[in-house]
Amino acid sequence: KYPPSLKILGEHHLTDEFTNVTPAILSKVDLELHTQDGHPLSTLRSIIESHYPDFSHHSSLSPIVSPWKNFDELSFPWDHPGRSMTDSYYINKSLMLRTHTSAHEIEVFRKGEDKWLLTADVYRRDEIDASHYPVFHQMEGARLYSADASGMEEVKEDNERLSQHLERSNIVIEDIPHISPTNPVQPTHDPAHSELIAKNLKLSLNSLLLRLFGSANSEEPLRVRWIEAYFPFTSPSFEVEVFFRGKWLEILGCGVVIDSTLDTANVQGKIGWAFGLGLERIAMILYSIPDIRLFWSTDARFLSQFEAGKITTFKPYSKYPSCYKDVSFWNPEGAPLHDNDFCDLVRDVAGDLVEDVKMIDSFVHPKSNRSSLCYRINYRSMDRSLSNEEINELQKNVVSRLTDTFGVEIR
Ligand code: PHE
Repeated sequence: KYPPSLKILGEHHLTDEFTNVTPAILSKVDLELHTQDGHPLSTLRSIIESHYPDFSHHSSLSPIVSPWKNFDELSFPWDHPGRSMTDSYYINKSLMLRTHTSAHEIEVFRKGEDKWLLTADVYRRDEIDASHYPVFHQMEGARLYSADASGMEEVKEDNERLSQHLERSNIVIEDIPHISPTNPVQPTHDPAHSELIAKNLKLSLNSLLLRLFGSANSEEPLRVRWIEAYFPFTSPSFEVEVFFRGKWLEILGCGVVIDSTLDTANVQGKIGWAFGLGLERIAMILYSIPDIRLFWSTDARFLSQFEAGKITTFKPYSKYPSCYKDVSFWNPEGAPLHDNDFCDLVRDVAGDLVEDVKMIDSFVHPKSNRSSLCYRINYRSMDRSLSNEEINELQKNVVSRLTDTFGVEIR
């Protein structure tokens, strides 16, 4: 199925039994939407960067990393589901496309940086719909203080300043304790220090969210809620949600950086926090962009609507008609097809012409015990009308790839 080697970002890499990157995915690795001047993702990046004026910025690190760097170094357990080939893209056994910007935490800390932001494209195998795309962009931020009396004085001063700013603002925060039995302080940390850092993290992010969402509905207060979370590389850990148009939206994950991360990075005597947020999620809300595929559009009707540095409301141009096709098949017993395998196959055949993929039926035949799946593929172009012949051709390719690559029996 794969050639002996793949050329990615100018370098040749051997393929093996782990290889599952598709040409559709590889066509995205050099686009760096987050640095394209005027692109909404780039503007959002620069607004967040300007909210942290004394932080350094990184935005051009290669997406190719070792699983060690993406997972092990950050204390992910060996059996973490994110490692599986159904969830992540592997180039081969020892190289993958990063699944999160945290993969670079250690190298940046190792440079001795205490305040930094890092923006990058990240890759996760996923379902297909208006808000899920297998490539998206994350921004990681981190702040370290010295873990001594003078460092803690500095945190207190920063906290005082941030609290005052937030008290004067139209924001309602549902908070939880900084530390709890289920969200513990690390054994190597002084609980008082950890509390101060967690508080600083919360203040700092509340203030960022106010900057981003505060003006969107200015009469109503901005509502933000903090939730206990778990990440292998932070403790305590949190997730933050923002109330927007009647719904709570998950915006970011964060926490107090675990000591072993800093040890590995050769950083001693410091304590601090890190966060990671998804840029598309936030940009879709702020710009009213209805479909995540639009970020990849090169259509002037999309790109010309945006101006560097400004958040404006996207005006959807007329949608072209969509057309759906169903395919039903018996799922092979020995090597059953995963949802993500099906989605990647469709994505690879149809690229951005696929709007969404849904499993609309599944059953097990009572006599033969064979399991049957039916998927509905919705085809639509963002830029033009698709002809019937073109869609039939795409569907024919999906079906033949299904039989050739996965050996399924079409019903
Ligand atoms: N990397 C995490 C994710 O992608 C987010 C995170 C970043 C959490 C930094 C804690 C600290 O879900």
